[in-house]
Amino acid sequence: MKKILLVFGTRPEAIKMAPLVKKFKEESAFFDCKVCVTAQHREMLDQVLQWFEISPDYDLNIMRPGQDLYDITANVLSGMKDVLKDYQPDAVLVHGDTTTSFATALAAFYQQIPVGHIEAGLRTYNLDAPFPEELNRQLTGRMARWHFVPTSLNRDNLLSEGVKEQNIYLTGNTVIDALYWTTDKIKRQSLSGGNVDQNVITVLNDPSIQTVLVTAHRRESFGHGFVNICEALAKLAQTHKNLAIIYPVHPNPKVKEPVEKYLKDIPNIHLIEPLNYQDFVFVMEAADIVLTDSGGVQEEAPSLGKPVLVMRDVTERVEALEGGTVELVGTDVKKIVDRISHYLAPENNFISKVNPYGDGKAVQRIVETFKGYFNS
Ligand code: UD1
Ligand code: UDP
Repeated sequence: MKKILLVFGTRPEAIKMAPLVKKFKEESAFFDCKVCVTAQHREMLDQVLQWFEISPDYDLNIMRPGQDLYDITANVLSGMKDVLKDYQPDAVLVHGDTTTSFATALAAFYQQIPVGHIEAGLRTYNLDAPFPEELNRQLTGRMARWHFVPTSLNRDNLLSEGVKEQNIYLTGNTVIDALYWTTDKIKRQSLSGGNVDQNVITVLNDPSIQTVLVTAHRRESFGHGFVNICEALAKLAQTHKNLAIIYPVHPNPKVKEPVEKYLKDIPNIHLIEPLNYQDFVFVMEAADIVLTDSGGVQEEAPSLGKPVLVMRDVTERVEALEGGTVELVGTDVKKIVDRISHYLAPENNFISKVNPYGDGKAVQRIVETFKGYFNS
């Protein structure tokens, strides 16, 4: 029996690793699978664990208000040392580009435990954007033995960096597995935004009101970028009377403070707490336009067939840009206002449901890869 340890710490990693945890657990004849959460996020992580019914075997519980990158790196590195010594896994799986993933990969490397990198190979090749995620992802890749890439473009990036072809596995992104699992469960249990604020439900149900769903949290937008985002949202709210802006605000004080300062008294802007995943999917499906800087939302929204405007200057997820389902608007006030206004106009109806990021079978491919590897 091979021992697999899956490690994650933030909301998006948890969403994307949850279906993989479930799949490994189903294969209990082959694998002993344990879950370690660093809890780089706390409440937002717990929301996801609850929805996917995952109880971690280890919990480093590192989150502190206002934590910085040194805190996260040091606490994950030293915490993982003990977890790895205790469990002694045959493989450690990490996800994407967070500091949890990078520091965990380093901890595994120091104990010469092979690392599998889920969502490998995405690149902007700009170390300032996304910061510090671009370097986190590149460094995690340097330490990985298995690279699970969502798209062929991600595979080409790794090949051009000298990663051996036999160590790269094209799987699709596990976020699509998570999304399908969630939309199925929503249907089965007839859930419809159960915990969403009643005012938000009211505007979503009102056919005379158009809705924009907003999320934002990027470090490179702190300060000036967030002031611009707020100015753009305020302008939109004031100039479009039949518009409602629904904004679940990230709890980072560097986000929450400017957003509350500039937007809290505008009646058609609904600032709400982060939504649990099932409610967020419900609101995403019901909204007319999505305005975001999120990686995960960029990957999910094309499946939902609505315009997605991305508040970043560059993205490592270029497939949907090329497919025309997402568009970069940066944090430029005029660009945000102009492009949202464009999609609000009735003549500019937008329909697209092509998703370049996966078919919902990524976790099956990943687990099969490990079965093949350990059987050979
Ligand atoms: C982190 C990741 C980023 C990912 C994002 C997803 C790094 C460096 N950053 O950024 O790649 O895209 O998560 O959201 O790995 N907080 C809470 N409760 C929570 C979560 C956060 O209060 O459940 C607050 C805390 O004050 C915390 C702060 O947010 O100190 C920042 O969290 P942190 O993980 O450092 O940064 P994120 O911007 O969330
Ligand atoms: N999400 C959520 N609740 C919210 C906002 C986002 O569950 O209030 C989900 C969203 O569907 C996506 C993920 O969280 O799967 C994205 O997380 P985030 O934007 O924090 O991080 P990123 O993807 O940019 O790393």
